[in-house]
Amino acid sequence: MSPFDKLQVRGQRVLLRLDLNTPLNKRKVADATRIEAALPTISSLRERGAKVVICSHLGRPKGQTVPALSLEPVAAWLAENLDTEVVFAHETVGEDVENLSKDLQAGGILMVENLRFNKGEKSRDPEFAKLLARLGDVYVNDAFGVLHREHASVVGVGQHMQDKALGPLIQREINALDRLVKGAVKPFVGILGGAKVSDKIGVMEALMERCDAVLIGGAMAYTFLLAQGKATGKSLVEPDRIRLAQRLLNDAEKRGIKVLLPVDHIAVGPDQTTATVVEDLGTEFVGYDIGPKTANTYAEIISRANSIFWNGPMGMFEKEDYAGGTKAVAEALAASRAYSVVGGGDSAAAIHQMGLGDSVSHISTGGGAALQYMEGNGLPGLQALKAKGNQ
Ligand code: 3PG
Repeated sequence: MSPFDKLQVRGQRVLLRLDLNTPLNKRKVADATRIEAALPTISSLRERGAKVVICSHLGRPKGQTVPALSLEPVAAWLAENLDTEVVFAHETVGEDVENLSKDLQAGGILMVENLRFNKGEKSRDPEFAKLLARLGDVYVNDAFGVLHREHASVVGVGQHMQDKALGPLIQREINALDRLVKGAVKPFVGILGGAKVSDKIGVMEALMERCDAVLIGGAMAYTFLLAQGKATGKSLVEPDRIRLAQRLLNDAEKRGIKVLLPVDHIAVGPDQTTATVVEDLGTEFVGYDIGPKTANTYAEIISRANSIFWNGPMGMFEKEDYAGGTKAVAEALAASRAYSVVGGGDSAAAIHQMGLGDSVSHISTGGGAALQYMEGNGLPGLQALKAKGNQ
């Protein structure tokens, strides 16, 4: 039995920290993936007779009240999908909110306003953490996506509460990532994409220690190509990261790890309006996606892997013309029998958008948190509860 299952919650107010940082469109939930992932936790607590007080952040309002980042639409989504009343508190903490929490019946749900409307959340203000702690008798942290942030609701509040545990979503995420971090079955292939090399240094170094091959796409590939002396035309590059890219490539070579870079591209030239396949970006072409030759090679390597970690799209997949590379990788991943984990917002969104979510072993609900865990640097939110034996 997990510490979460062992918690005595009947008739107790459970302060439940979730990551409901979810895209909204016209004050409606536009992608419910993160909320859906938290539903089993909410249901388990309600079935066990708890009074559930949900807190979360949404976006980055910088300590200000930003109406467009209110959690009210998320509360409305929950009420509709659970077919139950969800009381919404327009404040995050304070006497009124505390009273609302005390008024809850067993199985009832209260959602408080965006944690980050309060400066004390991000600055890990002990006073704010204490106020939050007053909203519950028991604390459950199941906000995997924010475990890498040392915020009051993640690392502070638990210090003021006796009964606490990590939630089942975090357990599932950690178990899934541990299969790759602690002895992945070889061949282990890492796939990295996205815009910036700078965002991926840590994970690339970590993957180079564990993987047999790392496949690179997205705009970050152009900085690596430039580091190899290849033409990148007018593609997006990070000139201040070229030496770092060189170092990473040299390290990989010394260790005998294959780092694959695109050999062709979907690009647009100076006098063109439509996308073309080119092998040489010359001085004028702008690359937006990996080309078909690269996609085939990557798909073939993926098909032979036994373990796969993917973070970051291969191109500007939001646009149909540049979605081919990401699609090819997603399809190869879905067709493979490997243990596969997709970590990160954009690649998770891509695989869902392509309707292939069910064919992957695990899609993480955390971007930065999943990367930091893969890097082996630990997660502050995990340590905060682990130290007390509550995981
Ligand atoms: C995420 O979307 O990765 C998490 O919710 C964390 O959000 P943050 O990067 O704004 O802290």
